[in-house]
Amino acid sequence: MTDRWNRRDVLRTGVAAGLGVGAASRAPAVVTQSPSRPVVVSSGNGLEAAAKAMEIVQGGGDTLDAVIAGVNIVEHDPDDMSVGYGGLPNEDGVVQLDASVMHGPTARAGAVAAIEGVKTPSNVAQLVAYRTDHVLLVGEGANEFARVHGYGGENLLTERSREAWLRWKETHSDRDEWLPPERDGSADMAPIERDYGTINCNVVDVNGDISGVTTTSGLSFKIPGRVGDSPILGAGLYVDNEVGACGSTGRGEANLVECASFLVVELMRGGAHPRDAAIQALERIAGKTTASRLLNSEGRPNFNLRFYCLNKRGDYAGASMYGQIGNGVARFAVNDGGDSRLEDCVALFDAMPA
Ligand code: GLY
Repeated sequence: MTDRWNRRDVLRTGVAAGLGVGAASRAPAVVTQSPSRPVVVSSGNGLEAAAKAMEIVQGGGDTLDAVIAGVNIVEHDPDDMSVGYGGLPNEDGVVQLDASVMHGPTARAGAVAAIEGVKTPSNVAQLVAYRTDHVLLVGEGANEFARVHGYGGENLLTERSREAWLRWKETHSDRDEWLPPERDGSADMAPIERDYGTINCNVVDVNGDISGVTTTSGLSFKIPGRVGDSPILGAGLYVDNEVGACGSTGRGEANLVECASFLVVELMRGGAHPRDAAIQALERIAGKTTASRLLNSEGRPNFNLRFYCLNKRGDYAGASMYGQIGNGVARFAVNDGGDSRLEDCVALFDAMPA
């Protein structure tokens, strides 16, 4: 799992040599046996989440309850500024969260988008799945639904995230009335980076049952009402109990136009290893990225996107558009019993140019 992916390997597998979704969907699911041990995969911020999910499935708990309990840790963590409490707000300074859940054994799914005042939107997404005949609730409707179930009214904006938002507001343009504080007599204009963040967590237990969850505060300083890929089934999350699961982090807009988590699961249904399926999805997204504002000097995407996937047999992978951004190596969290660990993602491209 730690070997870096390269294009020759893609071609050797034959996965990139023309296996389309149509072909994949006609092929029988190749994975029928359950894993010898449960496996949890999560984004790099999911070490604790993966450990909690593992603890619950090892105790015989439900797979969806397990991954939700896992990501609840990060949703409550004020230091993770991409998820739940402490998540970075929209351009108006309001934290709006998105989440989705899928329970493989019952094929139930639920999601919420642009929900406010709830630290754990994953719990509300689960309520949508189990306590409504709907799949997706958004905005005011989602807030009201959360309220009647005892959620809501919480202040999600920490001092750290408020200060980050204010700094962004004061520095992203020198053509408005918001001025950054002066230091040593001159304005400190260093802009603050925007990020997509997010946590995804997927599990397969010893019975071969599979569930997944994705939860996020989305793109920092987004236009109010912007919804990313996380709450959109097939994009930010997809689970098929006969096949496997996939979820994403990174630039949701790139994923939304390809429904790539669905694509990855369909490729796995056709027999692709999670690693090969995810790389093919990334390759498709890179190939469809043509707008110059989204391309770097090498003509490659100027954003990152990652997938975390596993199949019914317990094979798994994390895959990233770029293997390295700055000094940061793309890693994902795994737990197959015992302590969680970080493993290197396979990557479509080695390093994102500075
Ligand atoms: N992938 C998270 C988002 O785009 O909102």
